[in-house]
Amino acid sequence: ALPDIDSSKLKVTMNSELKKKPLNKDLLFGHSFTDHMLTVEWTATKGWEAPKILPYGKLSLDPSAVVFHYAIECFEGMKAYIDKQGKIRLFRPDMNMNRLASSCKRLTLPAFDRKQFLECVKELLKIDKSWIPKEKGYSLYIRPTAIGTQNSLGVGPSNKALMFVICSPVGPYYKTGFSAVSLYATRDYVRAWPGGTGDAKLGSNYASGIRPQIEVAKDGYQQILWMFGKEDYVTEVGTMNFFCYWINEQGEKELCTPPLDGTILPGVTRNSILSLARDWKEFKVVEKNITLPEIKKASTENRLLELFGAGTAAIVSPIKNIRYNDFDIKVPLDPKDPKAQAGPLTTRFAETIMGIQYGDINHKDWSVVI
Ligand code: COI
Repeated sequence: ALPDIDSSKLKVTMNSELKKKPLNKDLLFGHSFTDHMLTVEWTATKGWEAPKILPYGKLSLDPSAVVFHYAIECFEGMKAYIDKQGKIRLFRPDMNMNRLASSCKRLTLPAFDRKQFLECVKELLKIDKSWIPKEKGYSLYIRPTAIGTQNSLGVGPSNKALMFVICSPVGPYYKTGFSAVSLYATRDYVRAWPGGTGDAKLGSNYASGIRPQIEVAKDGYQQILWMFGKEDYVTEVGTMNFFCYWINEQGEKELCTPPLDGTILPGVTRNSILSLARDWKEFKVVEKNITLPEIKKASTENRLLELFGAGTAAIVSPIKNIRYNDFDIKVPLDPKDPKAQAGPLTTRFAETIMGIQYGDINHKDWSVVI
């Protein structure tokens, strides 16, 4: 067998010109990057080469590289945190490694040893540890990326690949607490379809979502509510998974999210929310298809409790309104506090997940100390 990724072969070249770090208050999502990056190259003939940690800097690629022509690119989003003891923590990094491997598979990019790749990421984090912001709500966003680098216009599997990891210090998604979003349920565009790539984290999935979002932004809608099928099934919201907390037709409190049927991204936050809610056993938790007409009906019957998006970047994103056909579905936030921007369950998920991420709530499986 050809060599796989081996963290014991990691070659480190330290950056001699360290950058000035931005102040926490000036952080904008994904705008500044740390002093180092990780790269691992693969060729079909030699397998994975020794991984490298290098000064953060430009990549040199031929303009014929397949990534530029056929979008052979996938990525991950994960975060590193500093706990009260000053230790680095990751949140369920095995899930990101597994999803990166399955995104690579979808694009015929090579398989890799996930544990060994994660070990290399951990070494990068140790080297750039001083870049991980310390305050609660702040973290280091980690962007593992895989691309096809064969110099060829032929449409086929790439015989060369590059995985790289860059890191960016980030603040809380909503600087002044939550800010509930208004959505537009679009009929003009579809994010994913059966047999498509909606369940893989491909850059191309995000590229095609930008124009729809820009078009509705001018009317005051922050994000698209993605639908599918003539029944108007809800699939995702913007770049996040969708959650609905309501009183169902049987009169039971229920948290639901669309099932992983191939059109839904298997989110780490999505999985964590389902798992926490199932542990709490306070209401029904189901993965099922939900239609916009059902949500509209629940709203008019005062059965709609909370709607929110879930993802790594924001954890949860409360929803206050959905434009559906010519109708605005008003979504309650907090019935007890007219000024609140998130409902009590949405807030509880955010606080519990953050508590685990920063090690304030003990969870030996999910929070990984480096
Ligand atoms: C998320 O974490 O919600 C994302 O999808 C990340 C985004 C920057 C692509």
